[in-house]
Amino acid sequence: MPVIETRGATVSYGGRAVVRGVDLVIQPGEAVAVMGANGSGKSTLVKAIVGLVPLAGGEVELFGTAQRRFRDWKRVGYVPQRTGAASGVPSTAAEVVSQGRLAHRLLGLPSRRADREAVARSLAEVGLEGHARCAVDTLSGGQQQRVLIARALATEPDVLIMDEPTVGVDAETQAALANVVSDRVDAGCAVLIITHELGPLTDRLDRAIVLADGKVVHDGEPPRPVGEHADPAHQHEHPHANGDADTENLWGSK
Ligand SMILES: Nc1ncnc2c1ncn2[C@@H]1O[C@H](COP(=O)(O)OP(=O)(O)O)[C@@H](O)[C@H]1O
Ligand SMILES: [Mg+2]
Repeated sequence: MPVIETRGATVSYGGRAVVRGVDLVIQPGEAVAVMGANGSGKSTLVKAIVGLVPLAGGEVELFGTAQRRFRDWKRVGYVPQRTGAASGVPSTAAEVVSQGRLAHRLLGLPSRRADREAVARSLAEVGLEGHARCAVDTLSGGQQQRVLIARALATEPDVLIMDEPTVGVDAETQAALANVVSDRVDAGCAVLIITHELGPLTDRLDRAIVLADGKVVHDGEPPRPVGEHADPAHQHEHPHANGDADTENLWGSK
């Protein structure tokens, strides 16, 4: 059963359709990039998937349930596109990540200890172990982005949706993000990531979907970064190519 399925999904702002008839299927454990120019409708599409904007047409199903009847939102982790607006409320990293446990706590299910463990595990997964007590406004932009990702991870989602998490972040955050994608996929979680550049994510993605003017114009292999092989710093010996299978062939880049 797909994690996400959209059929003819259409979203309009003021009578102008900005997502136009999108058909999309995301299976459990799949890592999929959503790409496309600014204004092509990427953020609007994922907002429609998580129910933050209404559909003008078509359907969205989550885990086989029509979105309007879906209630199990803790299965969905969503990291919105950053607006850059500071909250003004000083919080520690652990406090922000704890927000991801609210859905669990309202159900009255796990103990506070399970909450604490989930928070610690999520901070470690994004490479911020040891930063739990840091005020988020003292962290770098990349570290703050990782706190928001850790908050989404703390809900223990079955699908993790991230809107441009790599914009303006440092190399350490890019690497941490690639690890999060690997870890989640290994755990059977699906990952949907909006991004302009694949960078260190390239090898961890199953598919890329490209939007143009609100429509899907590509759904298949992730594009290889242009000119990657011309870069003298490019490593031809990929760490996972252990002599037998040449994974580069899979991407048609030879
Ligand atoms: N809240 C909104 N009200 C009106 N128009 C919007 C709103 N959000 C986005 N748009 C417009 O919808 C189009 C798609 O935007 P968006 O989904 O943010 O694209 P992307 O994420 O690919 O950059 C753009 O033309 C944008 O200006
Ligand atoms: Mg966007």
